[in-house]
Amino acid sequence: MSAINIGICGLGTVGYGSYCVLRSNSLELARRVGCEVRVSHVGSRRLRPGQDIGETRFSTDVFAVVDDPQVDILLELIGGTGIAKEVVLKAIANGKHVVTANKALIAEYGNEIFAAAAARNVMVAYEAAVAGGIPIIKAIREGLAGNSIQWLAGIINGTGNFILTEMREKSRPFADVLKEAQALGYAEADPTFDVEGIDAAHKLTILSSIAFGIPLQFSKTYTEGISGITQEDIRYADELGYRIKHLGISRRTKNGIELRVHPTLIDENSILANVNGVMNAVMVNGDAVGSTLYYGAGAGAAPTASAVVADIIDVARMISSPESSVPALAFQDDSLSDVPILAMGDVESAYYLRIAAQDKAGVLSDITEILGDCEINIEAIIQKEPRGHDASNQRVPVIILTHEIREAVMNEAISRMEKLEAVEGHITRIRVFRLDS
Ligand code: HSE
Repeated sequence: MSAINIGICGLGTVGYGSYCVLRSNSLELARRVGCEVRVSHVGSRRLRPGQDIGETRFSTDVFAVVDDPQVDILLELIGGTGIAKEVVLKAIANGKHVVTANKALIAEYGNEIFAAAAARNVMVAYEAAVAGGIPIIKAIREGLAGNSIQWLAGIINGTGNFILTEMREKSRPFADVLKEAQALGYAEADPTFDVEGIDAAHKLTILSSIAFGIPLQFSKTYTEGISGITQEDIRYADELGYRIKHLGISRRTKNGIELRVHPTLIDENSILANVNGVMNAVMVNGDAVGSTLYYGAGAGAAPTASAVVADIIDVARMISSPESSVPALAFQDDSLSDVPILAMGDVESAYYLRIAAQDKAGVLSDITEILGDCEINIEAIIQKEPRGHDASNQRVPVIILTHEIREAVMNEAISRMEKLEAVEGHITRIRVFRLDS
C-alpha cells in the first residue's frame, strides 16, 4: 500500500486539531505506519476563519466524504447522535474503517455500531472519546488485559474539573468559569452535558464496558452533575480534609457493577484530589497490578487530536495486518457478561450531609437519633455558628460525615430528617469515595 487516505467529517475544535496534527506529524506517521497517511477529503458545513486546509478536497456535504471511494479511514468528528450516527453507519456499510471522538455516540449506540462493524469486518476506534489525550482505552483494553479489573474512578470531564478548581482556588462564580471553559473550547456544544454529568456518564459507560466485559449500558448509569455545588460545600469539605471532585466510579461488587457519576468528597491528600483545571485522571485497580493512574489533558484541540491520530495509526497498521485486531469492547463479542448494573439504592457509600437547621435545643439530638435508628454511623460532625443571612433567620448549618451505608438507607434517613420541623429545605448530600476501598 503506497498511501492511506483519511476523510474527515466535521471541522470543529477536534476536527481541525486532528487535521493539523496529521499534517505537522506526517513524516513521523509514515515512519510508524510504513506508508504515507494523508487527508484526502474534508467535509464540513463551512471553513471557520483561520482554518487552512490547502489543496485538500473540501465538501459541504459530509456524505460526499462518506461515499468517496478513495477514503480508507473516516474520521467522525461531528459530535452528537444525529448526523454523526448516520455518517458512521453509512461509512461502515461502505466498508470504511471509522475513528471517532464521539462519546455520546459510542455510549448510546456503540453496541449497534460495533455489531455493524463486525459484520462488515471494519474497525471502529474511539480512544479520543474518553479523557481527551490520555490513552485510557488502550491502557485498559490492552495494557491491563491480564487483570480482573476491580474498580475504576476518574475525573473525566475537563470542563467540570475546571469549574470546581476555579471555584475553590479563586472563589469565582460558577457561570463565569463555565463561560471561560466554553471560550477555551473545552465545553460541549450544549454545556449542560458537562455540568449535569451527562458527558462524564457517556465516558464512564465506555470505560466500564471495556473494564468489565459488559455491553454499553448508558441508561443504567446514575448521573448527577455539579450544578448544585456551592462555595460553602467546597469550604466545609476543605475543613473536613476533603476536596469535592466530580467523579465517574465503576466498581465490581458481589451483587453487580456500580456505575455512577456524581460530585464526590475525596481525601485532600489523594492524587485525584490534586488533579486540577482541565486535567483529567483515571485510577484503575486490577487484581494483579493494584492501583494505576493515568493523567493528562482531558479536553482541547491538540490533546484530543493526539488520541485521534493514535487511533488512525492503529487502524492503518491493522489494514496491513488484519489478524492483529483487538475486540472493540476488549472482550470477545460473544463473551460479554450479563452481570447486572446495581440500582443506586444498592450502592454503598459514605456521605457528607449539609443540613440547614433552626438554632434551638434538641435539633442535633433529633438528627442523630434518626441516623442512629437507621444504623448510620457518624464519622465527624460540625455545627457552625450562624452568620449573616443564617443568623437573622436563627439558622445553623450542620455538617455531618458518615461511615459507609447503603444508599437506600441514607435516602430513608434524609427523608425523615427533612420532615423534622427544625430542618429547613432540602439536605445537601455528597457521596464520599475512599480510593483505597
Ligand atoms: N466537554 C468535554 C470535557 C470535552 O470538558 O471534558 C472532552 O471530552
